[in-house]
Amino acid sequence: MSGLKQHYAAEGIEQRLLSAIRAAGLDPEHPIAPEALGALDHFHTGGLRASLELMTLAGIGADERVLDVGAGLGGCARLIADKTGSQVDCIEMSSDYCAGAEFLNKLTGLSASINVYEASALDMPFAENSFDVVWMQNVGMNIQDKQSLYSEIFRVLKPCGRFAFQEMAAGETETRYFPLPWASDASDSFLAPADEMISGLTGCGFNKVLFEDTSDEHMARTAAAVDSGPTPLSLSVYVDDLSIKAGNAKRSLSENQIRLVRGIFQKPD
Ligand SMILES: C[S@@+](CC[C@H](N)C(=O)[O-])C[C@H]1O[C@@H](n2cnc3c(N)ncnc32)[C@H](O)[C@@H]1O
Repeated sequence: MSGLKQHYAAEGIEQRLLSAIRAAGLDPEHPIAPEALGALDHFHTGGLRASLELMTLAGIGADERVLDVGAGLGGCARLIADKTGSQVDCIEMSSDYCAGAEFLNKLTGLSASINVYEASALDMPFAENSFDVVWMQNVGMNIQDKQSLYSEIFRVLKPCGRFAFQEMAAGETETRYFPLPWASDASDSFLAPADEMISGLTGCGFNKVLFEDTSDEHMARTAAAVDSGPTPLSLSVYVDDLSIKAGNAKRSLSENQIRLVRGIFQKPD
């Protein structure tokens, strides 16, 4: 993973995934519904619920071609392919996650709808004007050069194509509690304030369709959530020290050191 420290324990990922899936009582010999894996493979704040909400906002159609940037294990890609019938390409810079994504594509019977490429978001292996939708959840926090990231997304989108994203943004004060889910220390956390995200995207040529801060809503939901105890399907299958990292993220959010934002931006015709 050049240019990115390895924060996630991904080695032997297929075996870990398989054990968790069996422990959850799912049968890997028969196609598994993508949503049944939601607690395992939606590797971002708000999990499956946040992906479903962003899908509604993005309004993805069956004949649209979608790119999932920094796809992780491909949970969002499978949800989109399953719910909309669209063809989805994934780029992910961790070879272990690429292997895990392809493995879960097979278990869900979605291999024909999803291609997985080991590639960098800053140098995408696609021609310009290739996609109707570029999707990205909780990835930009690891990428310092946001202008190159936004330019690459703009380049591969077709005219009128949409960029749908969820991200952590910088809050009012500096991030102080580490490790966070995306960074072991401050040297590897690249949070931009919301206004810089917006000006960076519009500076590339995008039109803003929607941009919202969902931090308060997220915190209220988290506070109201009933803890149903440990489950075999969890990010902890491949994220070390998950409870410490999640606890630090929660505290950072409540102290306004980080903000949870999402948006839809459109490439002009
Ligand atoms: C928190 S995970 C999110 C995974 C997925 N988007 C999801 O929401 O389930 C962040 C992912 O971004 C990937 N990533 C970070 N920087 C990247 C880059 N420059 N190019 C491609 N992938 C990147 C990481 O390897 C990791 O899998």
